[in-house]
Amino acid sequence: MPRYFCENCGFSNSLDKNLYFCPNCGDPLTIIYNDDELKANFSGSGVWRYSDVLPVNKDEKVSLAEGNTPLYKSLRVGSEAGIRELYIKNEGMNPTGSFKDRGMTVAITRAIERGFKSVICASTGNTAASLAIYAARAGIKGYVVVPDGAVALGKMAQARAAGAHIIKVRGNFDLALQMVKDFARESSDAYLVNSVNPFRIEGQKTVAYEIIESIGEPDWITIPVGNAGNITALWKGLNELKRLGKIEKLPKLLGVQAEGASPIVKAFNSDNKTIEPVASPSTLATAIKIGNPASWRRALKSVRESRGAMIKVSDDHIVKAQYLLSSKEGIFVEPASAASVAGLLNALQSGLIRKDDVVVSIVTGNGLKDPDSVSRFESLEITVGSDENLLYSVIAQ
Ligand code: F0G
Repeated sequence: MPRYFCENCGFSNSLDKNLYFCPNCGDPLTIIYNDDELKANFSGSGVWRYSDVLPVNKDEKVSLAEGNTPLYKSLRVGSEAGIRELYIKNEGMNPTGSFKDRGMTVAITRAIERGFKSVICASTGNTAASLAIYAARAGIKGYVVVPDGAVALGKMAQARAAGAHIIKVRGNFDLALQMVKDFARESSDAYLVNSVNPFRIEGQKTVAYEIIESIGEPDWITIPVGNAGNITALWKGLNELKRLGKIEKLPKLLGVQAEGASPIVKAFNSDNKTIEPVASPSTLATAIKIGNPASWRRALKSVRESRGAMIKVSDDHIVKAQYLLSSKEGIFVEPASAASVAGLLNALQSGLIRKDDVVVSIVTGNGLKDPDSVSRFESLEITVGSDENLLYSVIAQ
């Protein structure tokens, strides 16, 4: 049977308890399979196509048709940067507009299977939106704990619309996460569905399965990193695919953090075994404004094992990449997602990624999540009265 496993200290336990953290060392737990449990009779589409490697009761699944997101071939951004083959995996096309839905469908299914009537998370916004919508779908209560004043408009709108209980913390995401972790240690009244929940990681790993089924293995995959659950899930999925014989060579991972919130990059560059949390993280990419990522150890392990890298990008580069994606590819993403492409462009310039490498950049959230972010783009708007000549002259320019 699949079981909980601590990658840090080797603790393991059957799945018949509701565990998140290792009782010995406190690290988030992973779910592992023996070789004979890892099966690949895939059918259908989306996250549940990979039911064989999702350890929950499929008869009770809570789903809104997540996954099966488009993998676009880049038409301009890649070629203008001189790269041979760039693909963009648009996770913003999930039901609530972010990759969180892949993990949420599995975690909420597990919550129902275990008889929970409430679910809770801390969030910079997207997890909250996803939790709220999936809790509504499941007919259970949702509680979201968010940093007051630091969540993008569209995400709050989704949480409100779905009738979630919204708890605003006077502090940042790291404080909110600490609060829900403390809560989960003391109480079993609500199931914790942050990415420290191993079932969330199980759902999120399916992005790796989809990429590999579409184009085989790329040389690099670039991905934004905040709390570091998603890069952990991506690497887990890729390793399972290798064990299943679906790929021969593992891609390298490029994890990208925002400059003002980059404790994992610092640890990577200094060969450190631990991170130094950033007390006051700052970036306009609010989704990844995280100073003390819960899954930092697994993120470091993933990029090191893959022989990839962790790099940071400035807010300026994030805004430029966001505009490039929307104006040159027709792919409108939120700022945190654009970090993935900003990181790729930096890595191409530094020679870390080569021009003949095949690259997939994962973009994680829809641009509509953060409509205010477009105020940073140069605008082509004019206001006209009834003077048609003005209209003609603008178009003739
Ligand atoms: N991109 C977006 C759009 C996100 O919302 C997040 C995380 C990330 C990237 C980073 O993923 O945390 O797994 O490394 N958002 C979380 C939230 C923290 O609460 O919505 P990660």
